[in-house]
Amino acid sequence: MNTQLKPDIHWVGYIDWSIRDFHSYNTKRGATYNSYLIQDEKNVLVDTVKYLYADKLLQNVAELVPLDKIDYVVCNHAEPDHASGVADVMNACPNATLVCNAKCLDTLKAYMDGSNWKTQVVASGEELSIGKRTLKFIFTPMVHWPESMFTYCPEEKLLFSMDAFGQHLATSERFDDELPLDLILEEARTYYANIVMPYSAQVAKLLPSAAALDIDMIAPAHGVVWRKNIPAILEAYTAWAARKTKAKVMIVYDTMWNSTAIMADQIFKGACSVDGVSVEKIFVRVSDLTQLADASLDCAAMAVGSATLNTKMMPAMAAALNYLGGLKPPVKFGFAFGSCGWGKGAMEEIAEILPKMGWELVAPGVKSKFRPTQEQLDACFEAGKLLAQKALG
Ligand SMILES: Cc1cc2nc3c(=O)[nH]c(=O)nc-3n(C[C@H](O)[C@H](O)[C@H](O)COP(=O)(O)O)c2cc1C
Ligand SMILES: [Fe+2]
Ligand SMILES: [Fe+2]
Repeated sequence: MNTQLKPDIHWVGYIDWSIRDFHSYNTKRGATYNSYLIQDEKNVLVDTVKYLYADKLLQNVAELVPLDKIDYVVCNHAEPDHASGVADVMNACPNATLVCNAKCLDTLKAYMDGSNWKTQVVASGEELSIGKRTLKFIFTPMVHWPESMFTYCPEEKLLFSMDAFGQHLATSERFDDELPLDLILEEARTYYANIVMPYSAQVAKLLPSAAALDIDMIAPAHGVVWRKNIPAILEAYTAWAARKTKAKVMIVYDTMWNSTAIMADQIFKGACSVDGVSVEKIFVRVSDLTQLADASLDCAAMAVGSATLNTKMMPAMAAALNYLGGLKPPVKFGFAFGSCGWGKGAMEEIAEILPKMGWELVAPGVKSKFRPTQEQLDACFEAGKLLAQKALG
């Protein structure tokens, strides 16, 4: 396995082949926690790994440099997937100074005892000379947390981009040209939708300055390093951050005895009756939140339906709307539907929630009592058509 990014710069992280749940993100292909070692007059470790794997990281480092020769540990992001290993790494590297920003230090100290650490708090734009090379710290607030930052090495044209441009993908390959680009972009997209999407405004602000840097390698904190397809990932991020939608309708529903599914079918038919629109139907209880978020990343219009269960929408739908509500996909148009038996319930709940998410309802919600009537099915067909016309723009 080639772990060398450039002469004297190595990946020393951990490949987590078995992780499948990353705070509700279904990491179907596993994940990596990337940590990088720069050997110069000063030896620098950029980011660490999840605490469970700190010993593996330290072994990887020790194969290249004795641990007491580590001078700096840079922490770009305090989230525990990268930073919960900081305590063990600082203990094992007696001569290391932790380099991070003030917010990062506060957050790290909320998670662990840092009273014995030597620390160097940096400002945005500040530079640290490590010998032949310089490290420049560029704050990237809310991409992904308030303390997040990039570390840029101008002499190497190398950007350590922490979560940005990452992918959850366990692989022995370390570089984007060693795997099919489609696969990496698919995982980068899923990652963006599930982790970065709510911060698209911050990403959009950041991208021009990132693109202006002289870069020939981007080393994120997860997945493979970009060295061949940098324009492709920058272009993808530019589109996602701009919240560009496609002519795409999603129909997302949950059902117990199929009446809501029958309504979903009619909405599907209505949407498909409009040329040039792609339509995707998702039965949330057998799908997962990760796929739902992924599909929503460029979706213009979405119908949301649920059967009523004990006066409420069904639990998988509540979870789905809760998840989408936080992720804020660029959906502009919505429609609520669902079947009940005898009272108010799911459809009304959904019709109340969608406008709060900023979606314009294209038609009044449709609710059937038990099986839908022909009139209700016709209304569903029309709503599907309307969603598709709106999605076309
Ligand atoms: C466990 C259970 C609880 C239900 N609770 C309610 C309820 O509180 N209010 C209501 O109007 N209907 C309730 N119903 C009736 C369903 O909403 C009704 O059968 C509806 O047509 C189901 O739609 P579906 O075929 O899409 O599952 C309940 C049904 C079940 C099986
Ligand atoms: Fe993160
Ligand atoms: Fe992360």
